Amino acid sequence: MIKEIPIAENIYWIGVNDRETALFESIWPLPRGVAYNSYLIMDEKVAIIDTVKAAFSLEYLKKIKGVLGENRKVDYLIINHIEPDHSGSLRAVLETYPDLIIIGNKKTADFLNSFYGITSQIKIIENDEILDLGHHKLRFFIAPMVHWPETMMSFEERGRILFSGDVFGGFGTLDEGIFDNEIENIDYYEDEVLRYFSNIVGRYSVMVQKALSSIADLNINIIASTHGPVWRDNPGHIISLYDRWSRQETEDGVVLVYASMYGNTEKMMEAIVRSLAGEGIKKVKVCNVSKDHMSFIIRDIWRYRAVIFGSPTYNTKLFPLMGDLIRFLGNETIKSRVSGLFGSYGWSGGAVKELREFVTTMKWELVEPVVESKGAATEDIINDCILLGKKVASKLKSA
Ligand SMILES: Cc1cc2nc3c(=O)[nH]c(=O)nc-3n(C[C@H](O)[C@H](O)[C@H](O)COP(=O)(O)O)c2cc1C
Ligand SMILES: [Fe+2]
Ligand SMILES: [Fe+2]
Repeated sequence: MIKEIPIAENIYWIGVNDRETALFESIWPLPRGVAYNSYLIMDEKVAIIDTVKAAFSLEYLKKIKGVLGENRKVDYLIINHIEPDHSGSLRAVLETYPDLIIIGNKKTADFLNSFYGITSQIKIIENDEILDLGHHKLRFFIAPMVHWPETMMSFEERGRILFSGDVFGGFGTLDEGIFDNEIENIDYYEDEVLRYFSNIVGRYSVMVQKALSSIADLNINIIASTHGPVWRDNPGHIISLYDRWSRQETEDGVVLVYASMYGNTEKMMEAIVRSLAGEGIKKVKVCNVSKDHMSFIIRDIWRYRAVIFGSPTYNTKLFPLMGDLIRFLGNETIKSRVSGLFGSYGWSGGAVKELREFVTTMKWELVEPVVESKGAATEDIINDCILLGKKVASKLKSA
């Protein structure tokens, strides 16, 4: 267990590392776990910002006591976000400090009732309101629908620390360090911030943009989010990444997502990939829906400008795991992608038709030819695959 760690004068990280949970929100894989970050401000009034998942309550309370000792009490518990990965220890904290006041906005109060049956000891704050702790002052920025309706951020004015909730947060436990500049392989965490963003927050990109503009003039020193590293070395870097992602700015690369049971669709995939490589496209990511969890595929689709889907027909429809991916993507707000389609079928097909409908609903640009093979690919079909690769490559190069 990492002990409580000061992140500024009288401000402590009191988060926990979760190495047990296999799937975040019961869906997103956690190959290297996840951290639930919580923070404590010691002042004339003691404030805690967010808590941790319920399973970690005991360890969490120990950390609070590690800072406060037995005599000091918690005065305020600020709920930036009530999703239970952050509010799960609320009851445990309340039982230990029965006089504390919960701080949230109007929607938080509604959720405190519906999730926890709590209707008293709540102070409702408005956007831009300030909570005075003595030397530290917390200013609240309500950021609705990033990614829950009650979401808000808290800004500590003295150290210029933004407690940003899930915004800027990512998967991965905090092992080598908790600060960005203590971690050698910070690229890994940045990738995991993109995965968290694309899987969970990205759908609400318009609201993320609103939230980013509300904090644009704060001159932030430290970003302390609810997951992943505390960004103190160069907070502007993670802000600019988040800004680019939520503006749907992409890199010139291709994600090629395919399924194949017996190799027919796979051969087509290989022809397309060779063609892309021959055209000098280096950023090509091949994903197999049967082997790669959609969490990573969604991340890559969020990153790159072009996406090519290939699927065999299965019981008149898309291959089931491809269907799952498409259904998830259809409920996202991923814009302006260049797309290509291919597939293989045995008798009357269906997969490519579904893919075509999907791309049309997404309003993505569709690059012809759409290549469909009855059974094994003939030389003509392979030539069409090569042509598809060339045309996608030329779209990327002309951008
Ligand atoms: C369980 C199963 C269900 C299938 N259902 C259909 C179907 O409904 N319509 C069709 O045209 N082909 C169907 N096929 C045939 C495949 O789409 C075809 O063999 C295709 O070439 C498989 O591509 P693959 O080798 O990349 O897996 C089915 C094949 C299997 C194994
Ligand atoms: Fe969340
Ligand atoms: Fe979260």
